[in-house]
Amino acid sequence: MSHRKNIVAGNWKMNKDYEEGRTLAREVVAKLQPSDTIVVLGAPFIHLKGVSHIISEVNNLCLAAQNCHQEEDGAYTGEISTTMLRSVGCDYVILGHSERRDYFEESNQLINAKVKKTLAAGMLPIFCCGEQLPVREAGDHEKLVAQQVKEGLFDLSAEDFSKVVIAYEPVWAIGTGVTASPEQAQEMHAFIRSLVAEHYGEDLANATSILYGGSVKPSNAKELFSQKDVDGGLVGGASLNASDFLAIVAAM
Ligand code: PGA
Repeated sequence: MSHRKNIVAGNWKMNKDYEEGRTLAREVVAKLQPSDTIVVLGAPFIHLKGVSHIISEVNNLCLAAQNCHQEEDGAYTGEISTTMLRSVGCDYVILGHSERRDYFEESNQLINAKVKKTLAAGMLPIFCCGEQLPVREAGDHEKLVAQQVKEGLFDLSAEDFSKVVIAYEPVWAIGTGVTASPEQAQEMHAFIRSLVAEHYGEDLANATSILYGGSVKPSNAKELFSQKDVDGGLVGGASLNASDFLAIVAAM
């Protein structure tokens, strides 16, 4: 067996006001059972400091931002730097989410710059990739995901790459209630791992955590997570409710 980490990350997206976010974080802290699974809360920027404080006592509970800017600092009105994120206790940054790619036109090149900035600041990228429905229907899903992974990550040194978590999120499964079948998830995860093996070697490929995202729920998490190349999940909607989120963590 590999020594890769199991990770369940919540992505709150643009939900919850400040107090609601703190309440959710407190509920997770109160009910989380000890385990080896790394549990990550991906909160909106303004929640980060408050949530960081709430989760600070719990070892395997980590904090993620949902985006960052690719420059160090300067005249970028409305943006947030990796130094700022690190200074409020962020451990991870979710990058290249399909909503960022689609609504904010983030390219593989921009995401690559953000990955590097995140690593330079001492945080770990959760790098998202995944195809739209027409791409899968045309049979081009592996080709597209390969391009995202290669252009987004493969100019990193092996040492930097070893810090990256990959999340495969088929766009047609995000927020739709339609989940990829465990077979579809396994097939793509194995494919992504084979790309990593080709470029960085088997050892690093076996040590890379690859998460599945897209309508993960308490009812389907166990079957998805039991696939050999699925090392956890990136959870949107179901992470907004502490009981559902913790049921998914328990399924790991
Ligand atoms: P979902 O979102 O679980 O609501 O489908 C997943 C994600 O976008 O990360």
